[in-house]
Amino acid sequence: MSKVKLGIIGYGNIGSQHGKSIKSGKTPMVELVAVADCRPERLQLAKDTFGEELSVFSTAEELIHSGKCEAVLIATPHYYHPSIAIKAMEAGLHVLVEKPAGVYTKQVRAMDEVAAKHPELVYCIDFNQRTNPVYQKVKELLESGELGQMKRVIWIITDWYRSQSYYDQGGWRATWDGEGGGVLLNQNPHNLDLWQWICGMPKRVKSEVYYGKHRNIEVEDDVTAFVEYENGAVGCYITTIGDAPGTNRLEIDGERGKIVIEDGKLKFWRLRVPEPEFNATYKKGLGKPEVWECEVPVKGTYTSHPGIINNFAEAIRKGVKPIAPGTEGIKGLQISNGIHLSSWLGGQWIDLPVDENLFLEKLQEHCKETVIF
Ligand SMILES: NC(=O)c1ccc[n+]([C@@H]2O[C@H](COP(=O)([O-])OP(=O)(O)OC[C@H]3O[C@@H](n4cnc5c(N)ncnc54)[C@H](O)[C@@H]3O)[C@@H](O)[C@H]2O)c1
Repeated sequence: MSKVKLGIIGYGNIGSQHGKSIKSGKTPMVELVAVADCRPERLQLAKDTFGEELSVFSTAEELIHSGKCEAVLIATPHYYHPSIAIKAMEAGLHVLVEKPAGVYTKQVRAMDEVAAKHPELVYCIDFNQRTNPVYQKVKELLESGELGQMKRVIWIITDWYRSQSYYDQGGWRATWDGEGGGVLLNQNPHNLDLWQWICGMPKRVKSEVYYGKHRNIEVEDDVTAFVEYENGAVGCYITTIGDAPGTNRLEIDGERGKIVIEDGKLKFWRLRVPEPEFNATYKKGLGKPEVWECEVPVKGTYTSHPGIINNFAEAIRKGVKPIAPGTEGIKGLQISNGIHLSSWLGGQWIDLPVDENLFLEKLQEHCKETVIF
């Protein structure tokens, strides 16, 4: 079976990391044939790694229309993801887009609409943490009804530490014009995606967001959000770049017990009888359901980025199901945009999906330039 001829657009930190893993043979069904980047030194780096036969271009458009590639991996700053993906799909190329899908849902919806017109193309997003067997297992436990109806979910994800010197390197990061947000847009797209992937989409969100609280940056660096689900379950999400060592603890409480993921391990406390049943039948006053701490076997390997690239190639060549279809990208972004919008409107509840025009109008008020569509 022939290898998928891939072009990488944006050969910065992550683009070149993908290049290295292709070079090292971790993605056997992919051949890197072209790279585009607006910085000549990044193109030179790519040539140094892949040799003179690699085609290099200074714009995404030149790569897309070069006829060299059948698929592209888009690893530019977030604002550009949708517009480049749209051009690539309209030129008949399969697309793997980096996270986040974009900065605001209006541009991501436009990308999804073009993808819908091209069902012959594979369209995926690099949510590499979906390949982590621990998260796959907890999703399976919820979907199979093992935990019963979800009642409460709390994710404390405060181990995304970033120092001031990280931000002082400058560039597009942590600016409204360059990135469109801070910890929500840069570090948290993975967690917001996993959150909705495992627990489903909330119906509304409200938040308390701090901008430049821990670091000298204009965007958010400390966030607490509260959500409600259709079934009445509630959720709380806490994130920052300012805590050390910080915490990554996902706790999901359901009718049949409690699941906690922390330090990469899954723990399940299972009730002998579901809590609603206990409550309906227990007659002795003070008392609690009997609980068993269960060992849940988690099998498989966390394949991360190469896992997503391999899956993308297998979806193109063999028609396998994508781990992270591109159309999933808008969901975590809905929550992220909802959190920002709530904060900009004084902490009020925001129904999801967000009012995309209102969000864009408010985002625009924070930007010096007209935001990219
Ligand atoms: N999935 C993950 O775990 C993961 C990890 C890191 C970064 N990312 C995402 O990848 C994207 C890039 O992040 P990064 O850290 O590599 O940034 P970076 O700044 O290191 O790299 C971006 C590259 O894109 C180039 N570029 C900018 N605009 C361009 C354009 N219009 N056309 C062509 N090239 C262009 C820049 O010159 C730069 O080399 C971001 O959206 C980020 O969120 C994802």
